[in-house]
Amino acid sequence: MTKLADIGLIGLAVMGENLVLNMESKGYTVAVYNRTVEKVDKFVNGRGAGKNFIGAHSIEDLVASLEKPRKVMMLVKAGQPVDDFIDMIVPHLDKGDIIIDGGNSHFPDTIRRTKYVESKGLLYVGTGVSGGEEGALNGPSMMPGGSPEAWPHVKDIFQSIAAKVEDGTPCCDWVGEDGAGHFVKMVHNGIEYGDMQIICEAYQLMKDLLGMSADEMHEVFKEWNKGDLDSYLIEITRDILGYKEDGEALVEKILDTAGQKGTGKWTGVAALDLGIPLTLIGESVFARCLSAQKDLRVEASKVIEGPKVKFEGDKAQMINDLKDALFGAKIISYAQGYNLMMEAAAEHGWNLNYGGIALMWRGGCIIRSVFLGDIKKAFDNNPELPNLLLDPYFKGKVEAAQAGWRRVCATALTNGVPVPSLTSALCYFDGFRSERLPANLLQAQRDYFGAHTYERIDKPRGQFFHTNWTGRGGDTASTTYDV
Ligand code: 6PG
Repeated sequence: MTKLADIGLIGLAVMGENLVLNMESKGYTVAVYNRTVEKVDKFVNGRGAGKNFIGAHSIEDLVASLEKPRKVMMLVKAGQPVDDFIDMIVPHLDKGDIIIDGGNSHFPDTIRRTKYVESKGLLYVGTGVSGGEEGALNGPSMMPGGSPEAWPHVKDIFQSIAAKVEDGTPCCDWVGEDGAGHFVKMVHNGIEYGDMQIICEAYQLMKDLLGMSADEMHEVFKEWNKGDLDSYLIEITRDILGYKEDGEALVEKILDTAGQKGTGKWTGVAALDLGIPLTLIGESVFARCLSAQKDLRVEASKVIEGPKVKFEGDKAQMINDLKDALFGAKIISYAQGYNLMMEAAAEHGWNLNYGGIALMWRGGCIIRSVFLGDIKKAFDNNPELPNLLLDPYFKGKVEAAQAGWRRVCATALTNGVPVPSLTSALCYFDGFRSERLPANLLQAQRDYFGAHTYERIDKPRGQFFHTNWTGRGGDTASTTYDV
């Protein structure tokens, strides 16, 4: 009898193909299936030729070719297709078999699916897989969550295909129950949106304010990639700026309307639901939305005047300030993202390992950077760290970055160059370090028009007061509750 496969995969699109090639290269036999079955033969006889793949032409074939407990991984479009495949697979599996979703599924769906699949006596894993096509082939970052009993069965496969950090530690570990893995992957994507947006803001300032060419910017990004900002996204920006088509920078020929598949939006919605100020990522999602309103912007640009862009300062100093602005804002973004994960962990009962998450993101994924090694250290030093800004290393770094960061924001605002993410991060920083914010006035306003009550600085917390501000209202206060 032919050897049974260690794992089965449904979905031979870009990510699926590369991930199974990665698995096979680590010594695993993989059974593959695709809804359009011609793709199966094409793959097995093409990129998979001569390798340990078993081509399956039906779900039954796929399941029959698997070693027990069977592991069936789906890499299909998030949403309904995942539910459809689960319904197709479940009847063919036995108790203890494992269904794995490696797509960018929304975490509430993964929570629901884990319950459903477990109710059928099976186990479920929802895993984030980051790193694009190249990562899938050579070592992605993987963030698995779901049924904890499934982890020992998939651990070796996952950790052997995952990216490794310098000391060989895999960028993959168990994240937590039900939707925890997909939640962490979602926050990864939100941070990805933020990192990309602040880089774009720096690019616009260099181009429009400092009048720099793509070649000059390429050199700046090359330098930046050697220091604190050393990361995959800075690296690819360097390369993009250096890329020419017919002798001209291709980037300048690309239409300025951003696409998005929704993971950044989900991160923003989760933050609003949990009451966490996730301002940088939120602004980054909205910046994509504004960019997409191209026709309206073109119309507005013809009729609305702003300040004339004019830079009279020291260009080298400004470039250095931009580096500080990027670094300061990046620290804020991660501080906010981590706060979101902390709140979600409390809400959903997940025991998240924050240093471990930094390690999973340290290599293989889109936001990989040297910086994540420092985040890991911060949580190693204090696993209960409530906010990254309170870690001595990051506190020092953000304090050192703030002068340049402020000059960048002030110059951008004076010149009318939009930098929503850099400025919103700075406002968060100033709010976060403020003992007193103007919410006293806000509470007074709420109490004035709606008798919503307020607490007083000269009375214990938890006692609520109402004032009849106009003398016309009654003394009845509205109920006091917070969402
Ligand atoms: C990754 C990426 C990936 C994401 C794309 C596109 O971790 O490999 O985050 O999962 O789907 O980058 O995202 P948008 O279309 O929303 O920009």
